[in-house]
This record gives sequence, C-alpha cells and structure tokens, in this order.
Amino acid sequence: MAATRRPGRNHLFIPGPTNIPDRVLRAMHVPSEDHRSPDFPALVKPLFQDAKMVFGSEAGTIIFYPSSGTGIWESALANTLCRGDKVLTARYGQFSHLWVDMAQRLGLDVIVQDEAWGTGADPEKIGQALRADTEHKIKAVMVVHNETATGVTSDIGAVRKAIDAAGHPALLFVDGISSIGSLPFEMDAWKVDCAIAGSQKGFMLPAGLGVLCASAKAIKASEGTAGGNDRLGHVYFAWSDQLKQNPTGYFPYTPPLPLLYGLREALECIKEEGLQNVYHRHHVLAEATRQAVAAWGLKTCAKEPKWNSDTVTAILAPEGVDAAKIIKHAYDRYNLSLGAGLSQVAGKVFRIGHLGDLNELSLLGAIAGAEMAMIDCGVHVTPGSGVAAASSYLREHPLTRG
Ligand SMILES: Cc1ncc(COP(=O)(O)O)c(C=O)c1O
Repeated sequence: MAATRRPGRNHLFIPGPTNIPDRVLRAMHVPSEDHRSPDFPALVKPLFQDAKMVFGSEAGTIIFYPSSGTGIWESALANTLCRGDKVLTARYGQFSHLWVDMAQRLGLDVIVQDEAWGTGADPEKIGQALRADTEHKIKAVMVVHNETATGVTSDIGAVRKAIDAAGHPALLFVDGISSIGSLPFEMDAWKVDCAIAGSQKGFMLPAGLGVLCASAKAIKASEGTAGGNDRLGHVYFAWSDQLKQNPTGYFPYTPPLPLLYGLREALECIKEEGLQNVYHRHHVLAEATRQAVAAWGLKTCAKEPKWNSDTVTAILAPEGVDAAKIIKHAYDRYNLSLGAGLSQVAGKVFRIGHLGDLNELSLLGAIAGAEMAMIDCGVHVTPGSGVAAASSYLREHPLTRG
C-alpha cells in the first residue's frame, strides 16, 4: 500500500541536522568528478582558509574528514594523546557523557567532573583540578561548548582563563558541534587547541563532513614522539596524511564531493549575512523561544539564564506528562520534528532546535506546532500564548543588527 502523502514541508526543528538553504542544496547537485584532476584544488584550497572564519581563527589549521562530528572527537584524541594519558572533563549531558565514554574506550585515564544536567562546565573546579596537578600529568581538558541534550552553553573563555591562571600546559579540546557557525566562537582568543565541528548544524549541510580546526600546539603534539608505541592508534584519522596532501588541494582518500561544493556555498551564505548577524539572529530566535516557554508556564532544562543556549531549547514537560508523546504527536499530526529527550532526560524534555537556516516565521511555525501538540496531549497551555509572546518579542527585535 502506498504511504499516505503528507502535503507541505516537514518542519525540521531538531538541533541538527538543520534545514539546508535551497541554494546550498542546488550547489550540491553536481556530477561526480575526478578528485585527482588538476582542476580540483581550485574548489578545495579556498575551503581550508574560508572555513576558519566560523571558528574565529586565523592561526588554526582546518582538517576535513568524511565523518560526522564523532569522528572529529576521535581524531583530536587519537592524534595528540597516548594510552593512559590523563584528561580532565566535565559531564553535564548526553554528549559530554559520550565524549567521556570515547576517551575511556580509547584507553585514556579520564577525570570526570560531574555537573548537574542543566548546568555546564565549572571553570573554578577545572582550575582547582589543574592547580592540584603539579606534575602536569593532565594532558588535555575536554569541554562541550554547547550541550545539545540539555540546551546549555558553557563559557569557554572562562575555562581558558582558569587553565592560564593555573599555569597549566594542558591542551584545550572544545566540542563546538552544535555551536560553531551559530554561536560566537573565538578559537584563537580562547587558545582552543582542537575545535570540533560537524557539517549538519551551523554549516547547514547534510551530515558527513567533520571539520576540525587545530592549533599549532595541537599539531606539534601530533608530531611528537613522546609516548613511543603507546600513542593511541589512528590510521584513517591520521592528521599527518591529511597535512601532506591538503596544502596542494588534495586528500589522502576520496572526499565527499557534494559536501565540499555545499560547504563552499554555505560559507558564502554566512559571509553574505555576516557572522555577527548570524550570531545575533540565533540569539533573537532563541530568546523568542524562551519567551514562548515562559508564556506556556513551563521551564527550560537550563537551570539559570546564564546557561541558556541560543541554538537549542530543552523544555521540561510538566510532571506526569511524557515528553516523548508530545514529540510523537507533533510529528504524526503536524509534521513537526522536535528533538527528543536523551538518556537521563528521556521522556522529560522535548527540544526545539533553532539553529541554521531559519527566520521568524519558520520559528513561529514550530512554536505553534509545539503548542498545539502539547494541548492535544493534555498539557494545560493557553492556546496561542507561546505564539503571542514569541511574535511580540520578534516584532520588537529585528534579526539583523541595527
Ligand atoms: C554537542 C554534540 N557533540 C557531539 C555530537 C555527535 O555528533 P555527530 O552525530 O555528528 O557524530 C552531537 C550531535 O548532535 C552534538 O550535538
């Protein structure tokens, strides 16, 4: 039996993959090409330079992998660290948890600072742990900038200050998968050593192109011989193979061609809008979402305004209401995709992703849909209250800076 046709577009409001601008979709519609041809570097070489803009970096080195963001996590750890090395990290959501899990499975000795979900990294505690490590056994600090599971953003500048105040030489690795390209990110100013991104969020592309920006210090660590045979194994993810070929505009293996064309167009979109405007737009849309949540009489998972994420809002369903039911109903009835609650917050939250290619009216569609789905599922929300609060806010706050 043929599937029932669902007219109109699916309203995609998960926090990645995000909506892809039509012009980026068109740019990816290309025939296959010889990735060893003399013409190929003309496409590739500028990408290494242009992609740095969204990382807030001039000094860094971009490395692309045909992988999702998880692959870039692995490349950062595997290229710079040795089996048994100590790393320090904070855990406050599913993605920071998964990074801990990866580091442990790779054979690292992970010091975990557990924070309440709904909060983020505590620079003070990180500083304390580093000050106590007088022998400098901790080789890296790993921080998730924007914890997508809970809608929480941590202050990376403050983490850098804590590392410097402790006079500690550890590398700083930052997962910017759901922040880079959407939230202010200052790789050089924050002296981030590995900044980790994936194509399917702020870059507004399909998943499949992992993007790393590495500092000179990280690259030096990858070249060192410290650790001898105890260096973590890596073959596919070896930076050295990439760094040999990339400067001439080639890759050590077959690159995902459509994603490279898409990236070129997406970077052009970001340049045309202006990075500061992109950040401002994300802030305004996020604030409008929070206004809607308040008007519904609900709370966000982020415990205090200082943790609020401008790319995703995790909304706590009222006691006794299964958030998974709201998500399913929104999808089945209104063709609206909301983000699920993960792990500890499964069934407790639903998430509205507001990052990537969106504007006021697309957001209002999601807010209206979430509101309708909640009412259908028995949540006591005044019809129209979220839409009214968000639209009033949006009317007063233009998406472009004045
Ligand atoms: C903060 C964060 N880290 C890591 C990941 C995993 O990235 P990927 O699914 O691209 O491997 C995600 C995915 O949503 C994420 O949001």
